Amino acid sequence: MQKTAITSAEIAPVLAERWSPRAYDVNHEVSQHELLSILEAGRWAPSANNMQPWRYSVAVRGTELFDQMIGALTGFNQAWAPRASAFIVISVLNQKPDGTPYPAAMLDAGLTAQNMMIQTHELGLAAHPIAGMVQEDMRKVLDLADNLTIAMAMTVGKRAEPETLEGPAFEREIAPRTRLELDEIVLHGKP
Ligand SMILES: Cc1cc2nc3c(=O)[nH]c(=O)nc-3n(C[C@H](O)[C@H](O)[C@H](O)COP(=O)(O)O)c2cc1C
Repeated sequence: MQKTAITSAEIAPVLAERWSPRAYDVNHEVSQHELLSILEAGRWAPSANNMQPWRYSVAVRGTELFDQMIGALTGFNQAWAPRASAFIVISVLNQKPDGTPYPAAMLDAGLTAQNMMIQTHELGLAAHPIAGMVQEDMRKVLDLADNLTIAMAMTVGKRAEPETLEGPAFEREIAPRTRLELDEIVLHGKP
């Protein structure tokens, strides 16, 4: 299924065509090369002062770590995420080297995540960002050090037909993608 964005000006095809599915092909296996490509794309995101605060935790379906990661998600996400081929958690360093807080790390996390999602799309696969998790449970699963904060996660896999889902997940799968109009979000200087 395609959900190409309806835009008021032309944008890069990957940006128009990328969307976040919940229906994944449970028989698809992601290759190590594809995962490497996704992580490389994440690595090359910009970050404040080039601090690169992101740290990645990766698991593929069929492994104990994958099941544990999925188990730390909230209920709605557990209804669809298990069929994805891989799961990636992005954590960030929450302090600068001098020990002071590093709030920009969360912005950097968003940039590395978007790089990964775009690369996933370019590989002919689809990523879905996820924040709905029990943070403490995920921390335990990953055995994270205190200087790391979980920013978000994402599924990676091959799209499947929406009919493989049911209930709210199915409804959201077939719903059109929507955004606020530019008039609503450009405060100054709209062309
Ligand atoms: C930081 C972040 C957290 C998200 N968390 C969830 C989530 O927990 N569960 C979910 O189903 N979708 C989640 N989403 C997906 C959004 O609902 C989705 O990106 C948005 O509706 C726009 O749809 P699109 O990506 O298909 O354009 C999240 C997206 C982002 C950016």
